[in-house]
Amino acid sequence: MSNAIVQLEALANTPPTDPVERLALYNAAKKLVTATEDPFNTICRVNGSPMILTFSQVACDLGLFEKLAESTAPLSSISLGSSSGADPILLSRVLRFLASNDIITETGEDLYMANGVTGTLACRGFQAGIAHTFYATMPCLQATPKFLADTGYQNPADVLHSPFQVAHNTDKLAYVWAMEQPKLMADFNLWMTEQHQGQKTWLDVFDLAGHLEGSSSDTLIFVDIGGGLGQQCALLKEKHPQLPGRVVLQDQPFVLPHAIPTDGVEKLSFDFWTEQPLKGSRIYYMRNILEDYPDDKALAILENTLPAMSPGSLLIIDEMIIPNSGATLRSTVQDMVMMTSLASAERTERQWEALLDRAGLRVLQKTAYNEATGESIIVTMRKNQETGGG
Ligand SMILES: C[S@@+](CC[C@H](N)C(=O)[O-])C[C@H]1O[C@@H](n2cnc3c(N)ncnc32)[C@H](O)[C@@H]1O
Repeated sequence: MSNAIVQLEALANTPPTDPVERLALYNAAKKLVTATEDPFNTICRVNGSPMILTFSQVACDLGLFEKLAESTAPLSSISLGSSSGADPILLSRVLRFLASNDIITETGEDLYMANGVTGTLACRGFQAGIAHTFYATMPCLQATPKFLADTGYQNPADVLHSPFQVAHNTDKLAYVWAMEQPKLMADFNLWMTEQHQGQKTWLDVFDLAGHLEGSSSDTLIFVDIGGGLGQQCALLKEKHPQLPGRVVLQDQPFVLPHAIPTDGVEKLSFDFWTEQPLKGSRIYYMRNILEDYPDDKALAILENTLPAMSPGSLLIIDEMIIPNSGATLRSTVQDMVMMTSLASAERTERQWEALLDRAGLRVLQKTAYNEATGESIIVTMRKNQETGGG
């Protein structure tokens, strides 16, 4: 037994650098924690989890993570607080709490150093994620138990009636409300960018050039429905600058002026509750659209797209797929955010199959490009149509 402890301590001091080995060790260590945690630690962990978010936000506000990450020597509460005017007694309590949660490391009495977690939380993009969760999501979570009791524990499905509206005292849709909060939107965008930085995308698992063979400059090749600021159009142009053909970003009229300016990307104001006006595109693409709506509404969006699809058209859905069993933590967390903020849901593999079948779509390819989150593409075509030129 003592040998095992020594080995674990050694592994903790020098964890493997190989990502696969590292993940395997992390999963095994998590199992060990669950198996060895006593009930008082369990309840303390559960009760303390909102405090981790709260005091991480305070630490972000005071720049504590950056200061610790930049320092090569341990820092005291006095040195960490000197520029902010924060009371050293308050700081010592916050730092002690963060250290007891392994977010920073205590090296001696009132002395702290950064560890790997501190380094992560010192990144601006992750700090934006903390701020977004603290200010936008946390109030929704607090409103959820009463909301579910008041609605007879029905699965939330009305985007205008969810814990979000109760928490933020609004009758607006979450996106519309958020657009009126510049700081919140800035944090959200930073957080989204950080989450996808350096990660694989749909273009890593889909043979775009193969599907677009034979296209010319006037071929409609890509229509991004509800494409937001146009990140995917920009990515397509960056990765395949030589591909001829028209690339169109569609979104609501008040979103398009904020889109990333990208050479060769047309912008078209479009309401996806109406029929798709651009006919016969080689690819129609929807990323993180259908997750926002229950099945009847998602079907309506798909039904507005199908009439535009010619035999050579594909509809690529880029969303999370939750496996029918064994969902990862990141996908279930995201699902709860969808439930409490948007009265919507991430779909399981079975739910996707049922929805797409009802819509009259045949699945040609289903590939995850991020195993940890389940982010995937589902490549579909209209049933009873042969593939061919666009
Ligand atoms: C979750 S965001 C996804 C944005 C983008 N596809 C992405 O993955 O980053 C949903 C997008 O749908 C757009 N949207 C909402 N209602 C719409 C409508 N009726 N017609 C067209 N776009 C709409 C929003 O403006 C927003 O850009």
